[in-house]
Amino acid sequence: MGLFAKQKAEQQALSVPQHIAIIMDGNGRWAQKRGLPRTAGHAAGCETFRRISNYCREIGVKYFTVYAFSTENWKRSQEEVSAIMNLMEQYLREAIRDMQKNRVKICFFGDLSRLSPELRALAEDAVNQSHDFEIQANICLNYGGRDEIVRAARVFAQECADGKRKPEELTEELFSQNLYSAGVPDPDLIIRPSGEVRISNFLLWQSAYAEYYFTDVLWPDFDEAELLRAIESYHGRSRRFGGVKK
Ligand code: IPE
Ligand code: IPE
Ligand code: MG
Repeated sequence: MGLFAKQKAEQQALSVPQHIAIIMDGNGRWAQKRGLPRTAGHAAGCETFRRISNYCREIGVKYFTVYAFSTENWKRSQEEVSAIMNLMEQYLREAIRDMQKNRVKICFFGDLSRLSPELRALAEDAVNQSHDFEIQANICLNYGGRDEIVRAARVFAQECADGKRKPEELTEELFSQNLYSAGVPDPDLIIRPSGEVRISNFLLWQSAYAEYYFTDVLWPDFDEAELLRAIESYHGRSRRFGGVKK
């Protein structure tokens, strides 16, 4: 059986998680290993993102969330940051062009106010033109889990200060509605390539009961087979959510 046919068969045998999230890490090291500038790694990583997001759509993943740029990534050189932002612009132009073919709802998690007006306008267009589609891709851009929680707390505090809410009314459900992820079910599976075994401020609130999959593969080398391995591993887990499995 060819690799693709094998993957198809495997994919049919496994039901896919409803929500998969990926920390797209390892672009810099991928480039370094080849004697290329880090920016070349980001370009390669962007290709992988296109490929894996298409694949997720094909196999029926309903929600796909990717960590593209963190609130801490501004510490990097101006050259690297603008290369990443340029790749994002390029990707969004394509996504807008192919919107009717791909039919994916694009959402952003993160504070977009710090982005260039051009990138912000493209992000807004992509969101506005795709909001009726069912499959959802969430792009975490200038995203930090702690930042997200602080912002949600601020919204609630303001509502209390305005007399619209009382502190004792706050529940997990209500708090969740002020997060970027409002209305999106928690991730079932979070994948981190590149060999790092940490979450780096990704989906701190939402990952409470997520299953993690870590792999040494660098993001630009990540492929369909690796995704299927992650899904297979996920199926071997016993999710108890604090209860006891019968
Ligand atoms: C992930 O790859 C992309 C971003 C964080 C924007 P890195 O650039 O972090 O790659 P490494 O970890 O240096 O290899
Ligand atoms: C996490 O990767 C952020 C993204 C992939 C966008 P980092 O490379 O920034 O994380 P650390 O620095 O290794 O923790
Ligand atoms: Mg990294």
